[in-house]
Amino acid sequence: KVQLPKSLRMIIMGPPGSGKGTQAPKIADKYCVCHLSTGDMLRAAVAEGTALGKEAKVIMEAGGLVSDEIMVNMIKENLGNQECKNGFVLDGFPRTVVQAEKLDEMLDKNNTPLEHAVELVIDDQLLVARITGRLVHSRSGRSYHKIFNPPKVHMTDDITGEPLIQRADDNEQTLKKRLASYHSSTKPVTEYYRKRGIFSEVDAARSQVAVWQSLMAIFSSKN
Ligand code: AP5
Repeated sequence: KVQLPKSLRMIIMGPPGSGKGTQAPKIADKYCVCHLSTGDMLRAAVAEGTALGKEAKVIMEAGGLVSDEIMVNMIKENLGNQECKNGFVLDGFPRTVVQAEKLDEMLDKNNTPLEHAVELVIDDQLLVARITGRLVHSRSGRSYHKIFNPPKVHMTDDITGEPLIQRADDNEQTLKKRLASYHSSTKPVTEYYRKRGIFSEVDAARSQVAVWQSLMAIFSSKN
């Protein structure tokens, strides 16, 4: 008898380069839930050259945050997708306490409360090497690393064979600003979820496999 995967409704948070985009698609695959990455959605809007994309490009390249209103609407539109019926992994959202409150309002309406909020915890100084070595497949958001997780063929996506790129905001100067936004605006979100009793931390300075195992332990212990 085929057993349907358990549903899962979670957010994965952590500073730039902590491994959200590496772990989130794998979680989504395992639990048959959707992976919504607000960073990927914004980069798609930038690539399409929409009005929102033009506005977001300037903010992202400066390491700032796009407005709560825009981001909340973006998530609202996507959570209704068929692929999110069994649950979701939100990656890069919420990034402010206001976004977290609005997300709760949305989920409460549908009687589908958040089950887990996980923070990937890692020291700022370890993130420079991760970010400056990152290679990305733009269309899927798949990420590689020049040294820690190289593609099979130089600068080429393993799955599609398409070229990999480096993100415009992946330089040391912008990283400093992105880290500052994380500490001032996003870190308070951890306290919000701690109070709700659904918060867990994972040490993200370890290997990808070790991080994955910690995530699996969290989901199986609380489900
Ligand atoms: P976003 O795309 O969300 O960027 P970010 O939070 O800065 O996170 P990153 O994508 O840089 O890192 P990651 O944690 O996914 O790391 P990865 O797995 O790739 O947002 C970009 C911008 O959009 C924001 O700055 C903001 O302007 C805007 N924005 C987005 N959402 C918003 C919102 N809600 N509100 C307002 N503004 C918003 O890993 C990094 C590298 O390390 C990779 O090369 C990977 O291969 C490697 N790696 C991963 N894990 C390990 C490991 N365990 N060991 C060694 N290497 C590893």
